[in-house]
Amino acid sequence: MRVYITGHRGQLGQALLKRLPQASGGDLPELDITNPVSIGTALAEAGAELVVHCAALTDVDGAARDPELAYRVNGLGTQNVALAAAQAGAALVYVSTNEVFDGARGQPYYEFDTPNPINAYARSKLAGEWFAAHLLARSYIVRTAWLSAPGGRNFVHRILQLADERGSLRVVTDEVANPTFVGDLAEALLRLIATGRYGIYHLTNAGYCSRYEYACRILALSGRGHVPVEPISLAQYPRASTPPPFGALANTAAAALGVTLRPWQDALADFLKA
Ligand SMILES: NC(=O)c1ccc[n+]([C@@H]2O[C@H](COP(=O)([O-])OP(=O)(O)OC[C@H]3O[C@@H](n4cnc5c(N)ncnc54)[C@H](OP(=O)(O)O)[C@@H]3O)[C@@H](O)[C@H]2O)c1
Repeated sequence: MRVYITGHRGQLGQALLKRLPQASGGDLPELDITNPVSIGTALAEAGAELVVHCAALTDVDGAARDPELAYRVNGLGTQNVALAAAQAGAALVYVSTNEVFDGARGQPYYEFDTPNPINAYARSKLAGEWFAAHLLARSYIVRTAWLSAPGGRNFVHRILQLADERGSLRVVTDEVANPTFVGDLAEALLRLIATGRYGIYHLTNAGYCSRYEYACRILALSGRGHVPVEPISLAQYPRASTPPPFGALANTAAAALGVTLRPWQDALADFLKA
């Protein structure tokens, strides 16, 4: 199957490309998903049969400052990708986020729960879900959370950097989700695609924790267990975007097809070893 990856230089895109060496892909600046001609030409030239759409504006605070831009890239950009995929006769995988849920329930969200986004990034990603679900018949919507890739812009690297620069940290206890490592996610995505069962899925490493617990585990496993971490609340950490306080996802639909991921603690240990 000829696979085309949007955002192939991003964290997840690179992990997919490593596992699909025959795949092609595009990213800024040569591909701009906000331009229908750009994505249409790319898919036609690639002869795409499956599009894995990873390109997105992923800076959640930037999205809060410029919600229109977030909607143009994540909402309308996905409309462009979905229409171009339909035109090319390709199926689509749209990578979405745990942030589509409001996080008020205090329990992991299932695939059948109703989204209720509380920030601009999440609203733009939910708009993308609508386009992916309605503009072509064969689509997978895959929600994930808290992605980390080697060398990427992510929480693990940020914690290590801040620990080394500042010698102490303050991390929130009331933001909870599933730490997820892109190698595991890429492999699960490929297993899911092999089933041909289009639909809505939640794919994350198993288990969940608060940012605070996550930071403590990162420090302990990287030999920085002596670095003090002060537990704080979201209210003490002003930022442009409001994350869902309890945004953990439950994997039910993919698990029913035999697609599960290992616990995040095991994945983190391997990540830090590498
Ligand atoms: N990161 C997370 O924690 C997380 C959590 C849940 C869901 N997700 C979703 O998972 C997917 C992959 O995330 P990721 O962490 O791999 O993202 P990433 O590393 O930020 O990669 C996204 C890529 O898309 C590119 N891009 C942005 N605007 C574009 C445009 N108009 N046209 C073409 N390419 C464009 C980016 O380029 P620039 O770098 O030049 O902007 C970047 O290379 C995204 O859909 C994201 O919403 C991510």
